[in-house]
Amino acid sequence: MEGHLERLKGTSQAKSIEIPSAEFCLELLKRFGTYPHIIAHIKQVTKVALFLGRELEKQGIRLNISLIEAGALLHDIAKTYSIEHPGVDHAAKGAEWVRKLGYPAVAEIVASHVELPEPIALDERAIVNYADKRVKHDQIVSLEERFEDLLARYGKTEARRRFIKRLYERTKEVERMIFKHLPFSPAFINRLGKNK
Ligand SMILES: [Fe+2]
Repeated sequence: MEGHLERLKGTSQAKSIEIPSAEFCLELLKRFGTYPHIIAHIKQVTKVALFLGRELEKQGIRLNISLIEAGALLHDIAKTYSIEHPGVDHAAKGAEWVRKLGYPAVAEIVASHVELPEPIALDERAIVNYADKRVKHDQIVSLEERFEDLLARYGKTEARRRFIKRLYERTKEVERMIFKHLPFSPAFINRLGKNK
């Protein structure tokens, strides 16, 4: 896996642009051996993140849509690796890889896609973080459904359950921060999943 990085660093594309194209992100996912079901999840998260980004822009919020797209496409770049290497923090590992590839702004989004640093702000990181929490596997769901699933899958200890519940409360805050600018409710996002 690290060998890929060394090779990619030497390519002109990795050096010359700060935000990788969507095409190159998909290529990176392939080269990093991302499982197909994770690609399906990533594509759905990207759809939600792009939709929210564009709708917020319509309301006058300044955002970098290409950065949202690249961040969403690469947020789980190290997920497969973390499954194969238990104990690896996939957000931190993915951010490290993306930083080494020469995309520090995208790496920030990857680093904060599980937990946003305080204080939260309405930026590209918050949008990708929130979009990821509206997609369970490749289905768009409510925050409540996503967190119930997280609790069932990862809430093995009291400490983990506490962490997940705290994350839910903070994500509710992010949801309120995003939707106070939008002319529709969080449930409106569900319909994006219909025409895959
Ligand atoms: Fe993730």
